Amino acid sequence: MQSRIALRPLTPCFGVEVSGLDLARISRDEGYAELRRLFEVHSALLFRGQSLTDADHQRLAALFGPIEDREADSRKPGEAVPVPLVSNVKAEGGVTAADDPHTLNLKANMLWHIDSTFLPVPALTNILVARVVTAEGGRTELASTRAAFRDLPPERQDRLRRTVMRHHYATSRARISPELAKLPRFHKWPEQRWRAVIANPTTGEEGIYVASHCRAVEGLSEAEGAAFIAALLGHCTQPQYVYSHAWQVGDVLLWDQRAVLHRGTPWPYNQPRTLASLCVSLTAADGLRALTPPPA
Ligand code: OGA
Ligand code: MN
Repeated sequence: MQSRIALRPLTPCFGVEVSGLDLARISRDEGYAELRRLFEVHSALLFRGQSLTDADHQRLAALFGPIEDREADSRKPGEAVPVPLVSNVKAEGGVTAADDPHTLNLKANMLWHIDSTFLPVPALTNILVARVVTAEGGRTELASTRAAFRDLPPERQDRLRRTVMRHHYATSRARISPELAKLPRFHKWPEQRWRAVIANPTTGEEGIYVASHCRAVEGLSEAEGAAFIAALLGHCTQPQYVYSHAWQVGDVLLWDQRAVLHRGTPWPYNQPRTLASLCVSLTAADGLRALTPPPA
């Protein structure tokens, strides 16, 4: 399987398009070790012309670790877990209205973030599969927090290694709409504390750990914290660190949340857009423990 793989860089600093690999055929024994190696090294992997069913998508995600289920608390025992959709398409047809909470929630995805930093266990990866794509806009952008960390002067790196930030789901939603932020589903989890730098336990490489979900920086006032978070996000998302992906049906894009920030971009909201998204949770082997600060 390995010999047929070809790589094309997505940017000079991170990401590759991988061709010659059928993701539906990868298994623990065949192909996963090579896929995981590419993931660790390149931070973001793009595959085109794939045809993954939901079951293939779930099998692929499960190779990386436990599949995240934010609705686990409301499932019946043994109930099948569907693949979550990032979509503006309504079950009965048509697209959600501009002022619908669902649409506003999609807008919050357009703020730079790392997935699930507001959960007790954040995500290692998100595997996105393009189901319905738009004619214009609707890109997904990735930014290398690893390259952004590498380029900081040593004293700022040291300061960041000692920094702890507090993350909450409602924080990112409040940046779009205070009303949206009040919905119960954004208050299911208490604030989470994470270090501002995450190290890859395999390679030792460090990435900046910041997101639109960041509510506060420990040791700083609210205003200082907000400025610190904005400056850090601004540093990480400079053009030299960014890959902007224009979707085609059949694309599969996955990234290492320890090394990459991401966001969606706007599209004419009357156009349908559906991405299937499976997040996999971080485990101790992926560096979860080192991300966890000592108690405040
Ligand atoms: C996500 C996400 C961005 C997009 O699925 O977690 O942030 O482009 N998606 O839809
Ligand atoms: Mn996301």
